[in-house]
Amino acid sequence: MSGMTFADRVQRVSPSATLAISNKAASLEADGVDVVDLSVGEPDFDTPQAITEAGKRAMDAGKTGYTPSNGIPHLREAIAEKLAGDGLDQYGPGNVVVTPGAKQALFEVFQVLVEEGNEVVLLDPAWVSYEAMAKLAGGDLKRLDTAQYDFRLEDALGDLAGLVTDETDLLVVNSPGNPHGAVYADAALEGVRDLAVDHDVTVVADEIYEEITYDDVSPTSIGSLSGMRERTITVNGFSKAYAMTGWRLGYFAAPEDVVAQAGKVHSHSVSCATNFVQHAGVEALESVDAEVTEMVAAFEQRRDLLVEEFRERGVDVVEPQGAFYLMLPVDEDDQAWCDEAIGEAHVATVPGSAFGTPGYARLSYANSTDRLREAIRRLDEHDLL
Ligand SMILES: Cc1ncc(COP(=O)(O)O)c(C=O)c1O
Repeated sequence: MSGMTFADRVQRVSPSATLAISNKAASLEADGVDVVDLSVGEPDFDTPQAITEAGKRAMDAGKTGYTPSNGIPHLREAIAEKLAGDGLDQYGPGNVVVTPGAKQALFEVFQVLVEEGNEVVLLDPAWVSYEAMAKLAGGDLKRLDTAQYDFRLEDALGDLAGLVTDETDLLVVNSPGNPHGAVYADAALEGVRDLAVDHDVTVVADEIYEEITYDDVSPTSIGSLSGMRERTITVNGFSKAYAMTGWRLGYFAAPEDVVAQAGKVHSHSVSCATNFVQHAGVEALESVDAEVTEMVAAFEQRRDLLVEEFRERGVDVVEPQGAFYLMLPVDEDDQAWCDEAIGEAHVATVPGSAFGTPGYARLSYANSTDRLREAIRRLDEHDLL
């Protein structure tokens, strides 16, 4: 113990629940226990070779110094072009800030838009870091439960209308979403749009799982809807679509005044994303498609397997249409269930309460079909299903 005093804003925040589980899994494994780890939110594939090669070439060519703070022009142009293809043509290269991961992009956006006492609305279950980022910026949270509607946001719009008021400053939309795997229907996004416009709310659209959808579902970017172009900040990244978690590359696109403000947080904290990693990102956007399709097909097969196996056992799961997570309904005390799952069955999962939704465990199916089958066998064997 150092005896130092710590800032209130940091003490308001809990450590990441996903990291806590991963640490538990790692310590069991260090003791020689075989753990099926379904707690991690990262693709179990290697980064496509063309991207790795581009990164190496860039390193060899000396792309190892600082870059312009907001990112190299070539990457910002490629990102703007990609976004325009998604109906987001309001963002030119000057509206894009390249960051070390989407997490940093979100952090900067929260720092710029949320101040002490501001109201931030989350659609639960919501990814763990939104709460922490809102609290670090001094924001107060209002949370909408979509689990009671099987994560169908369109059915929760009435509740949302009771939550969003003129006092609301920011609302986060994550579709396809972590941890629910839902891809929000246009009717849902239009409902959010109507409330955002009526109450002058800024929307952060976290679209990091955009490439990972099933059943030919294609996600709509809320920033492409009329009325949303000037009030949406779109966040995306390379971690999930291109299996590039450790490269740390993401971005946000926003109106120019937001970029100007965020540029201060960005340049005074990270300076820029890693130079050669940005060059690898250009390669990803401009020439890597087939591997993404293959990875998505593998995730879809695993989703099908899990849904089928659970339903066969009488467990009523909602079929996810995107990302690589499934919300498994468990005991009301989901923390105790997850403790038993890891302690007894040696299957690591994350309690739904970490995402604001108790009574569930989040399973990541970024794992082989064999290991997924093994996880189900163990959970079944320990009467956890
Ligand atoms: C919903 C969501 N947004 C953002 C991120 C951050 O991704 P990264 O910082 O690796 O780009 C994650 C990672 O787990 C996520 O699940």
